[in-house]
Order: sequence, then C-alpha cells, then structure tokens
Amino acid sequence: MDRASKHMDFPRPPGGLMQNPGPAECSECHKPVEATLHRQRWYPSKEHPECRSRRVWRASALREAEKRILKIIPSAYHGMSLADESMRRHPANTAALKALHEWEPHQSAILTGPVGTGKTAALCAFAQDQMRRLRAVQWYSEADVVSHLKAHMREGLATDPIARLLGSHVLVIDDVGTARPTEWWTEQFAAIVDRAYSNERAVVLSTNLTEQQLIDHYPYSGERLVSRLRHMTAPDRWVSVSGVNFRELGRNTRGT
Ligand SMILES: Nc1ncnc2c1ncn2[C@@H]1O[C@H](COP(=O)(O)OP(=O)(O)OP(=O)(O)O)[C@@H](O)[C@H]1O
Ligand SMILES: [Mg+2]
Ligand SMILES: [Zn+2]
Repeated sequence: MDRASKHMDFPRPPGGLMQNPGPAECSECHKPVEATLHRQRWYPSKEHPECRSRRVWRASALREAEKRILKIIPSAYHGMSLADESMRRHPANTAALKALHEWEPHQSAILTGPVGTGKTAALCAFAQDQMRRLRAVQWYSEADVVSHLKAHMREGLATDPIARLLGSHVLVIDDVGTARPTEWWTEQFAAIVDRAYSNERAVVLSTNLTEQQLIDHYPYSGERLVSRLRHMTAPDRWVSVSGVNFRELGRNTRGT
C-alpha cells in the first residue's frame, strides 16, 4: 500500500476534509519525531538520542523510588497517594491536603490533631507522591529518629547523622511528641530543627500536640524549637486535622 492510499483509510470529518494525523510527538520534549503509520496511527520510529537517555534514566530512577517506598514507608500505607479518591472523600483529610497540596521543596508543614484522624496516612501518601516525582525523602517516626541517632553514636561513625537526615528534599517525622523528651533527645531534636531552619531545609511533621503542648513537652528548648518551626512553616501549612478517629470507624477490620 502506498502512502497516499494509507491516508485514505483515515476517518473523514463531517466536512469531508482529509483528517491530518499529524507527526508523532516525542514523549520527553514534545517536539516532532520521525514516525511510521500503522493501523491508522502514527508511531514514533526514532527517538531523540538525548531524550532516550533521559527516559531510560527516569525509568530506572522510578524503579529505585518504588523500592525505596517499600523500604521506608510503613507497609499498611503502601500505594497511597494524596490524589486518591479515599483521601478526598474524608473531610478529616481536607486540612492535610491543603497543607501538602502542590508542595515544593523548602516548604515545611505540620499536621496536628487527635489520634486516628489520618495524619500518618496523609504523610505516607505525600511521601510516596514526592518519591514518585523523584524527590529525595527521609521518612521517620520520632522514635525512629531517636533509634537512628543512638545507633549512629553506638557505632561511633564519623559522619554527621543530622546532615544525613537533612540531606534530602524533605525530612518527614511522624508522631512528634511521642518519644520520651529526655534532655539528650530534646537537644538532638532542637538541633535538627535549628539546622533545618538555618539551612532552609523542609521538615514535614505530624503530632498530637498543640503549639503550647509542644512548648511544654520539650524542657528548656520548647520555646526556641516552636519559634523556629513557626517561622519555617507558612500559617496555612500548620494545620489542625480534626474529625473522626478512623480506627474506631474501621474497628476490627484488620486481621479479619
Ligand atoms: N483517607 C483514608 N481513607 C481510609 N482510611 C484511612 C484514611 N486515612 C487514614 N485511614 C486509616 O485510619 C487509621 C488511622 O489513620 P492514621 O494512622 O493515619 O491516623 P493518625 O492521625 O496518624 O493517628 P495517630 O495520631 O494515632 O498517629 C489507619 O488504619 C488508616 O489506614
Ligand atoms: Mg500516626
Ligand atoms: Zn525529544
């Protein structure tokens, strides 16, 4: 079949003009690429070499991101995204969605609210969305940060553990206020926040505590800590999550 007769196969719009299928588009740079016609559709027959390298690199980076999600995100929350219908359906998530919507690196956020209102779920969905956008995320609960720093001390490593925590686009710490606020941990946490503050790194936190409770919770450093957090976090990203306790709603559904 010659090229002209192939064109004849295309459906004609009502005006009777030949529909122009147009050239195929490069999925990377959206510029035209050489294409071949097959079953009435144009398929790219060649890729731009630099776009191919970028595409191959991205595919490999995405595979790595999926592996990292499995490693660092608690398993009950795997596969979640802030764009999920289940996230949008629950009014309790509105505040979380507002704080984390269209997030850009360097924007800190804090979700505060009672037990079971979906804070961890929102942070996990957020972290996964960002990792799938190939952003570097560190995910910890407060207790995990304590263990991480203690292990680092035990092993006597020469590297700076706080620099590692803050070396990503965002450091997420879930359940702030649940680890015992010993003098040592308070100092460490204040140092993390202070370094994030001075180096313009983003922290995204969840806590059951109000601002005043946070101040009271961390002896001596509470005021300094909260003052920095307040300055780092735009008012509309320090949000109070309220609503039902999801765990009570879905009671006994686990393990059935
Ligand atoms: N959008 C949602 N849709 C369906 N289930 C949800 C949603 N958000 C949370 N859940 C479920 O509700 C339960 C409680 O949510 P989550 O653990 O996120 O609450 P939390 O605010 O972090 O609680 P806590 O303050 O105790 O840490 C979990 O089992 C979670 O899977
Ligand atoms: Mg939680
Ligand atoms: Zn291209």
